[in-house]
Amino acid sequence: MVELALPKGSQVKAGRTVKAPAGPDGKRPKRIKKFKVYRYDPDKDENPRTDTYEVDLDTCGPMILDALIKIKNEMDSTLTFRRSCREGVCGSCAMNIDGANTLACTRAIEDVSGTVAIYPLPHQPVLKDLVPDLTNFFAQYRSIEPWLKTDTPPPEKEWLQAPEDREKLDGRYECILCACCSTSCPSYWWNSDRFLGPAALLHAQRWIVDSRDEKTGERLDELEDPFRLYRCHTIMNCANVCPKGLSPAEAIADIKRKMVERKV
Ligand code: SF4
Ligand code: SF4
Ligand code: FES
Repeated sequence: MVELALPKGSQVKAGRTVKAPAGPDGKRPKRIKKFKVYRYDPDKDENPRTDTYEVDLDTCGPMILDALIKIKNEMDSTLTFRRSCREGVCGSCAMNIDGANTLACTRAIEDVSGTVAIYPLPHQPVLKDLVPDLTNFFAQYRSIEPWLKTDTPPPEKEWLQAPEDREKLDGRYECILCACCSTSCPSYWWNSDRFLGPAALLHAQRWIVDSRDEKTGERLDELEDPFRLYRCHTIMNCANVCPKGLSPAEAIADIKRKMVERKV
C-alpha cells in the first residue's frame, strides 16, 4: 500500500490554552466559551498550531469578531486577523468558523455550539494566523475589468438606465468581495490559477447584463475558455456560504446560457 506523508510544515499541532482571567470578585467567570484559533507565523520556523482561548461571555460582545478583538486586546496581542467595518460591509473579516466560510462580525457566538473553531479562509496562502493572501483573488477580479466600457462618448451628465434594467443588477452589486464563495469552491481550490472562481464571475456577469455597457461580446469572448468559466460544475457551495445571500452559481449559469444563445 502507498504511504502518504504530509510535508512537515502542513501539520497543524495543538498549541497552548489561555485561561479566562478571574472576574472582579477574584472568581472564575461563570459563562466561559472556548475558541480554538489557527496560529501561523511565517517568520518562525514552526508548524502551524491551534491555540485555545477561554473567553468570559459576560464581558464580551455577541459576535465572533467581538471575541477575537477581546482575545487580542486582553489575552494575546500577537493574534492577527483582518477587520474594519464590523457590520458586514467591508468583507475583510471573512474566515472559516465552525467549518464554514463566513464573516466574523455577523456570526453570533451563541449560534455555535461547543468550542468555536476558527481557521483562515481555506486553500489560500496564509500570511499570518487568520490573514489569507488574496492577491490572486483580487487580480482575478481586476481581470474581468469591473468598470463601464463604452464606445459612445460619455454624456454630459450621467449614463441613464431604465428601472427594469437597473433591477437586473440586483443580487450582484451587493457583493462585498469577501472571498467566502471562491474559497469554498472545490473547483477553485484545485484550479485557482486558471478558474476565475465564483466571485469574479459574479462580477463579470454584473457587467455583461449592465444595459449601459457596450462591450458584452468582448466580455463573453474573454470568458470562453475551458478553465476561466467552465470549471464551474454547479456544486453550489458558493451560494450556500455567501454571507450576503447572493448566488454566484446563478450568475455563472446565466453567463453559460448567454454563451449558448449567441451561437444559435
Ligand atoms: S458573492 Fe458573496 S461570498 Fe462571494 S465574494 Fe461576494 S459577498 Fe462574498
Ligand atoms: S457552483 Fe460553480 S463556482 Fe459555485 S461552488 Fe460550485 S463549482 Fe464553484
Ligand atoms: S469587519 Fe467588515 S465585514 Fe466584518
